[in-house]
Amino acid sequence: MNLYPIQTQVTKQQREQLLQQHARLIWFTGLSGSGKSTLAVQLEAQLHAKGFKTYLLDGDNIRTGLNKDLSFTDEGRVENIRRIGEVARLLLDAGIVVLSAFISPFKADREQVKTIVGPENYLEVFVDAPLEVCEQRDVKGLYKKARAGEVKNFTGIDSPYESPEHPDIVLQTHTLSVEESIRILQQGILPKISTHQSKI
Ligand code: ADX
Repeated sequence: MNLYPIQTQVTKQQREQLLQQHARLIWFTGLSGSGKSTLAVQLEAQLHAKGFKTYLLDGDNIRTGLNKDLSFTDEGRVENIRRIGEVARLLLDAGIVVLSAFISPFKADREQVKTIVGPENYLEVFVDAPLEVCEQRDVKGLYKKARAGEVKNFTGIDSPYESPEHPDIVLQTHTLSVEESIRILQQGILPKISTHQSKI
C-alpha cells in the first residue's frame, strides 16, 4: 500500500503517566432507550470531577458529524462501529479514559472493537433493559414511528440486537436507579483506571 507509519517519540505509557491514569474504553451497549447515554453522561461527569481525563463518544452525536454519511442498515452499523473503534484507539493512545454509548447491536462488531483497542483496554457494559420497557419509555418517539413503519431497520423491531455473552458489567436499568447503576459502574471501573497517584 506504499504506507510507512511513523513511530512517535512519546509513548502511550508516557502520556498515561503524565495524566496519572490508565486509559480504558468503557463500551456501553444496549437497545435505544435502555439508558446508555444517561449513564455514560453521568459517569463521565463523576470521573471528571475525580480528576480523570475523559471523553465521551455518543451515537446521536457522532452520527450527526463524523458518521453522518452512514445509514442504519447492517452495513451502515458495521462501518459506524468500526470507525468508533478506530477513534477510540486514537483517544486511548492519547491516554484518555473513553466512554462510548452506541447500540452496537452486533456481537462481531463489538469483538472487532475489542481487537482494535486491545482486549486489556476494553470494558463492556451491557445496559440490559427489556424491549418492552424501552418501548414504553420511548423518549424519542422512535419506537412508535418504527411500529408505524415510518422508521425502518429499528433495533428490536425490524433489526436484531445480539446481547453480550460475557460483559464486564450488566445493569438492569429497569430495576436500578441511575444512582445505583453509577455506584456499580464506579466500583467496577475506578480500580481499572486508577494509578497509585490518582486522586480518588
Ligand atoms: S448503532 O446501531 O449503529 O450502534 P447508534 O448508537 O450509532 O446505532 O445510533 C442509535 C441512535 O440513532 C438511536 O439512539 C436513535 O436516536 C437513532 N436512530 C435513528 N434511526 C434508528 C434506527 N433505525 N435504529 C436504531 N436507532 C436509530
